[in-house]
Amino acid sequence: MTHKVFAMSGSLRTGSFNTKLLNLCIPLLKAKGVEVDHFDFRAANVPIYDPDTSDTNPAPQVLDAKERIRRADGLLLVSPEYNNSIPGALKNFIDYVSRPPKEHPFGGKLVAHLGATPGGFGTLYSQATIRQVFHALNAWSLPGHFVVSNAATAFDATGQLADEKRRAELERFIGKFTDALKMMRPQA
Ligand SMILES: Cc1cc2nc3c(=O)[nH]c(=O)nc-3n(C[C@H](O)[C@H](O)[C@H](O)COP(=O)(O)O)c2cc1C
Repeated sequence: MTHKVFAMSGSLRTGSFNTKLLNLCIPLLKAKGVEVDHFDFRAANVPIYDPDTSDTNPAPQVLDAKERIRRADGLLLVSPEYNNSIPGALKNFIDYVSRPPKEHPFGGKLVAHLGATPGGFGTLYSQATIRQVFHALNAWSLPGHFVVSNAATAFDATGQLADEKRRAELERFIGKFTDALKMMRPQA
């Protein structure tokens, strides 16, 4: 059986740097023999979690995401940083998925964290807050991360990372993720 990864960008923005980075990860994952389930966060149009109604009457797109995460061995999350933290829309999505009716699907999953920002400090602050959330959900965050700073100039016209060294680093990071995934979830 092939290992499966639920992969998403935490940005809703058209032209998102984080989605660009996700788009570079997907073929690298596939090259490692991993099946990728790309969750289009913008298209899903996830509503705000409402404690009065969402547990008893969850949005279909959240139920769909829940089942897809359940079927995955790991998650690859490429997230922007908002005010040194996790963007509200992404936190809302994770909170919503974590709720009843069924047990949440994050437990025991390996999560790779990446991020891109036009700023100079990668998304280092948000990486810490995102890990804290997955820690609460009993998921395993892969040690280390891959972040892109100065994203406005980091990608070339084709969407590839302009710096050859960074391209190699991304490939190594994906390799580390898929190696850990195969080690944690050996397949028959
Ligand atoms: C509300 C808000 C807060 C932001 N805070 C930060 C921040 O703390 N650190 C940072 O590097 N960039 C910050 N940014 C800039 C984002 O990195 C930038 O908008 C980036 O393009 C978002 O990622 P995306 O291109 O994938 O949508 C912020 C942007 C918004 C809208």
